[in-house]
Amino acid sequence: MSAHGTPIPMSSERGGPLKGEAHVPGDKSISHRSLILGALSVGETKVTGLLEGQDVLDTGKAMRAFGAEVEKRGETWHVHGVGVGGFSEPDNVIDCGNAGTGVRLIMGAMATSPIAATFTGDASLNKRPMARVTDPLALFGARAYGRSGGRLPMTILGATSPVPVRYATPMPSAQVKSAVLLAGLNAPGETVVIEREATRDHSERMLTGFGASVTTEDTPEGRVITLVGRPELKPQTIVVPRDPSSAAFPVCAALIVEGSDVLVPNIGLNPTRAGLFFTLQDMGADLTFENMREEGGEPVADLRARFSPNLKGIEVPPERAASMIDEYPVLSVVAACAEGITHMPGVKELRVKESDRIDAMATGLRAAGVAVDEGEDWWTVHGCGRGAVPGGATVKTHLDHRIAMSFLVLGMASKAPMTLDDGGAIATSFPIFEGLMTGLGARITRGATETA
Ligand code: S3P
Repeated sequence: MSAHGTPIPMSSERGGPLKGEAHVPGDKSISHRSLILGALSVGETKVTGLLEGQDVLDTGKAMRAFGAEVEKRGETWHVHGVGVGGFSEPDNVIDCGNAGTGVRLIMGAMATSPIAATFTGDASLNKRPMARVTDPLALFGARAYGRSGGRLPMTILGATSPVPVRYATPMPSAQVKSAVLLAGLNAPGETVVIEREATRDHSERMLTGFGASVTTEDTPEGRVITLVGRPELKPQTIVVPRDPSSAAFPVCAALIVEGSDVLVPNIGLNPTRAGLFFTLQDMGADLTFENMREEGGEPVADLRARFSPNLKGIEVPPERAASMIDEYPVLSVVAACAEGITHMPGVKELRVKESDRIDAMATGLRAAGVAVDEGEDWWTVHGCGRGAVPGGATVKTHLDHRIAMSFLVLGMASKAPMTLDDGGAIATSFPIFEGLMTGLGARITRGATETA
């Protein structure tokens, strides 16, 4: 839905090839963290390239509510931080909108200060599990009072005398890891997070950049991350790299739309994020990394994606799941256009995203004429082959931006158009999606298109 709650039906249909450059917005994960760590540092952090999607704007508002100054001057966001332990108690409920990352990281950041805050979100966020964050925050001494099942709206009473924590995350989640590390900032001594599977490491990298002591060690137990509490975080100048998860949409569209050739410049290829691109190559995609370089300590490349007539289904390695968790919806669209079967195991986290993404994609793909099998922790797409997906369905997006964009990409390659009940959620992470894709030659319209 739009910010005003009015559904925005959208359709896409086959057109000519996609050609040109796609300049996708800043990374959502890094944008949230820039504002939160800026707010916890002493002095002024400057951020350029910030994703100005609704999720991140809501985190900015929340940081103001906790006492930081956050404003945009020219092209730069200025965050005047209050220091670790310096958050003040918000006067009002914190509305994190659609953003799981926003609410979970902010809960962590306030949980070791002696203040209370009440959090809420939209209909999607208020269904998502929060116990995965409030359980470890309770070990620091924080208390959570939410709806049954550990759902928002929820009030967190921050710990008055926080203790440091050693916590093994029960699921592969960078949000849980990050919430614990952010809580550990205002606890004395060492806070340790152990993760069995490595997840995106932006918090560790950025905390180090702000001057905290964070060490990471790969052990037989898993990845052990140790943070020394109560640092003084020093303000930074941050250039947010472009989001590989947003790049996924023009890249995948180019692979399945006949004759396409699209360049997506300056994409971060942090190994904890880049799994989709290697998977696409394994499927036979004509996808190359040009101008490989390092920027701000991260590998970066320009991605060139060309129409790939011989895509084939594969077994996606489960150990790659964490590095491409947000990309399975659009991968399933490429799989539908490939020859043969794509099997995606080890992905139960997809069931607790902005929607149950296995269910949302499976339902929409079946309506579009694609066979899909699923279990709690896996799903399989039976590819229709080049140019052979029937399409012609109206699908529900469940307030999930990635479901919406994935089905619009499918409509660009399917025989008959695809229609969304509501594309409003796209604005949470990729507000320029429609203009960027139509600029490449895609046919996207607002309102339902008559289907064949
Ligand atoms: C994110 C972590 C992932 C991802 C989300 C962003 C982050 O969620 O799906 O879009 O910025 O830490 P989980 O930690 O729940 O896997």
